[in-house]
Amino acid sequence: MWDPLGVKLIADLDIAKLDFWERPVSERHEAFAWLREQERPLFFAQPKVPLARAGKGFHALVRHADVTEASRNGAVFANSPAVTNPEPPKWVKYIYGDSLENKDAPEHTRLRRIVSRAFAPRMMARLEEHMRRRAEEAVSALAAAGPGDFVELVTQTYTTHVVCDLLGIPDADRPQVLRWVRDTVEYQAVRSDPKGMLRHAAKNTRATFGLRNLVIRLGRERRKEPGDDVISALAGADVEGERLTGMELGAFFLLLVVAGIDTPGHTMSHALALLSEHPDQRELLLSDYDRYMPGAVDEIVRYASPITQLQRTVTAEYELRGQRLAPGDKVVLFYNSANRDERVFTDPDVFDISRGPNPHVAFGGPGAHYCLGAHLAKRELTVLFQELFTRLPDVRLAAPPEPMVSTFNNAIRRLPVTFS
Ligand code: HEM
Repeated sequence: MWDPLGVKLIADLDIAKLDFWERPVSERHEAFAWLREQERPLFFAQPKVPLARAGKGFHALVRHADVTEASRNGAVFANSPAVTNPEPPKWVKYIYGDSLENKDAPEHTRLRRIVSRAFAPRMMARLEEHMRRRAEEAVSALAAAGPGDFVELVTQTYTTHVVCDLLGIPDADRPQVLRWVRDTVEYQAVRSDPKGMLRHAAKNTRATFGLRNLVIRLGRERRKEPGDDVISALAGADVEGERLTGMELGAFFLLLVVAGIDTPGHTMSHALALLSEHPDQRELLLSDYDRYMPGAVDEIVRYASPITQLQRTVTAEYELRGQRLAPGDKVVLFYNSANRDERVFTDPDVFDISRGPNPHVAFGGPGAHYCLGAHLAKRELTVLFQELFTRLPDVRLAAPPEPMVSTFNNAIRRLPVTFS
């Protein structure tokens, strides 16, 4: 535990290093609580990371007010050149195109207007029908397999199908899409030794090329023969005088499959773990599912913060809570910490599905980059758990969740579950 004078804490606390993220979760929460108490945001030097651009370091934004201030002010806190920390090498964007997340106004505004068509109410209504069927299939697979790994049997296949249904990716390509997504995410998440990083980088390159070739093929097919899916909507007819270039379509496709498959899957695993560990909350939820599930979803994402952190680059002189920032400085928005800020949330470490209001920033702070898939992710979770608790009412953890160590997200590698 920490030295009462904070000496050990300061010496050991380096949130820029992977070692910190290997610590028990309670210690990490304690460390962020201490950081939130500090008069101003602290600066952390960037450790050297193989195959990534070494930066100087970053100012850690840990309070809810700091994260929302930076999210709102896109003119000073830019998403370009990259929101992941450490940043990927420059050549990546020349080959694969740059993600929507890494762009700023006015280019971001134009792109976001076009890609929002993917999430239009008509698309969401059509998807919801598929979602119910996919949830039934996933829960049937678990019921047939008996106790096992919730990640492998349920969340991975379910979230892959939902995103592939949205995008119109043929069934035959889906297992390969999931393998590629896993390789890409592992590269972002795991910062291991140089040898390990080389292995992850090679897999990531193969995966990114594979996904890019798939979208080129599908784009060509849908231009000739459009379907009722997102690739047709974005690659096809020039509906509102604007369309995506081939490169933009490829980059958006990559972002959607990675953001849409991986993060919701981990969120579902956290949901089952939390509802198993808090039987009173589960009982309350099941007493009136339709009434309590919307609040439960918000509380699950607040409590778990599936995306831990994203970066912004400062474009002008600015003072944030007493910390002077200069152009070129990096700030990192710690969503995990903002979501436990005691200035905003009463008893932040308590999991309470009836919490209200719940202004969490798990889908990003208020601003231009707020998660495009937030509504979809909430529906996905609601539909799956309705099916799960109807078919297997006593489904619960059989052993503690196996986390994946990452500075970037709160990922669960394996979640052993059982039921009678
Ligand atoms: C529980 C699940 C999810 C969580 C916790 C989550 C979280 C986030 C966060 C924190 C951001 C960054 C916001 C910012 O920079 O201010 C983001 C952006 C984004 N998310 Fe999600 N997300 C989830 C699910 C999804 C799904 C299902 C999709 C699509 C199928 C999606 C698509 C996107 C896109 C396209 C962006 C970039 C938006 C932009 O830059 O304009 N997300 N998400």
